[in-house]
Amino acid sequence: MGDQAKLSVGGKEIDLPVLKGSVGPDVIDIRKLYAQTGAFTYDPGFTSTGSCESALTYIDGDEGVLLHRGYPIGQLAEQSSFLEVCYLLLNGELPSQAELGKFEHTITRHTMVHEQLSSFFSGFRRDAHPMAVMCGVVGALSAFYHDSTDISDPVQRRIASHRLIAKMPTIAAMAYKYSVGQPFVYPDNKLSYAGNFLKMTFGVPAEEYEVIPAVEKAMDRIFILHADHEQNASTSTVRLAGSSGANPFACIAAGIACLWGPAHGGANEACLNMLREIGTPDKIPHFIERAKDKNDPFRLMGFGHRVYKNYDPRATVMQQTVREVFDALKVNDPLFETALRLEELARSDPYFIEKKLFPNVDFYSGIILSAIGFPTEMFTVLFALARTVGWVAQWNEMIGDPGQKIGRPRQLYTGPTERDYVPLSAR
Ligand code: ACO
Repeated sequence: MGDQAKLSVGGKEIDLPVLKGSVGPDVIDIRKLYAQTGAFTYDPGFTSTGSCESALTYIDGDEGVLLHRGYPIGQLAEQSSFLEVCYLLLNGELPSQAELGKFEHTITRHTMVHEQLSSFFSGFRRDAHPMAVMCGVVGALSAFYHDSTDISDPVQRRIASHRLIAKMPTIAAMAYKYSVGQPFVYPDNKLSYAGNFLKMTFGVPAEEYEVIPAVEKAMDRIFILHADHEQNASTSTVRLAGSSGANPFACIAAGIACLWGPAHGGANEACLNMLREIGTPDKIPHFIERAKDKNDPFRLMGFGHRVYKNYDPRATVMQQTVREVFDALKVNDPLFETALRLEELARSDPYFIEKKLFPNVDFYSGIILSAIGFPTEMFTVLFALARTVGWVAQWNEMIGDPGQKIGRPRQLYTGPTERDYVPLSAR
């Protein structure tokens, strides 16, 4: 028998199994706690709760480590490609040359969307936030691809996963094109995943579009850096939605809705807006003081993380990529200097040191995306595009788990106890 934890509740002592993962903290298995004691655990925000078993992604927040299927994010960002990382996340192992070629071919052949889906866009206001459009259009996919919504069929699950990964750039680019009043650009099968997305976003039918290799590489790397991040809020949302048996398109739409919040994927947009508000480095101390003031709701966006209590390894790669994109495009956004100085000042400030607040993935990503030409409203859309593979891989893992149950948390009830209804005339 493995390790046991002892818990004493109301004078009764029970043993709880302690489960060991391949690496990382042990977990105390409380599944029988309620049956044995009549008590629930209480953990709002899931700060100490493991919600599932997963073999996809591992994070050591104290050491600043992020592994996908065991491979460090820095190595993947440097040496792999986004579609190879997608294959890895979905299948567990890196592909052979032939497997990668077949996978790339499959994804490329799923990039078009049903022509009728285009008419959805005109139902939205042109000034709608593209994340609002994404929630609606991705949710609508289940009305178009009925042949891949039977979640009990592994083949349909795979096809739905491929469709989502392949169509997300097309839908994201369409959301952008609609907002600027330009015609939609069809996918181009000759191009890479990132190159095709750039063309669909920035190309116009009247001209040839030339993909700049350094920008294409940066785009691909940004997708890799956002591919998965274990049980974060949006991924947990996808799993919870999927636990009821909802179809994958509906589940991913739920994930997109959750990602939109400024405490999660919306932070990249909020961070660039904050840097613009700060403007020049001389204003930084004022904003740092505001971030430290408990009576001021302002927080340094792109700083802090629930899991990382060290430098987010994705922020390291992101910072390097800023320079590469600036060199390739021959631009130099002064906000980068402001961001570097802000990082330097915050990291030498006792408040941020004590609370272990470091730059996260969102701190530098907005500067790169802005240099490439994306408006801030598109930043979270790009995050959703890249995170789709993580969501579908986690969803597939959950559906394939024989121990999977509908997610149904309990609560600590603090409302009124039972009382009699008082007729309106007597109130
Ligand atoms: N600026 C100033 N203070 C902060 C910041 C920040 N960015 N982040 C956390 N703190 C402080 C909190 O005020 C709190 O102080 P207290 O203990 O005195 O009350 C302490 O640090 C812990 O913060 P919590 O909010 O309790 O930590 P939690 O794990 O719940 O939140 C979160 C993590 C939401 C990421 C938070 O750090 C934050 O709001 N950061 C800014 C938004 C952001 O960048 N989000 C992107 C996260 S990465 C991603 O989703 C891709």
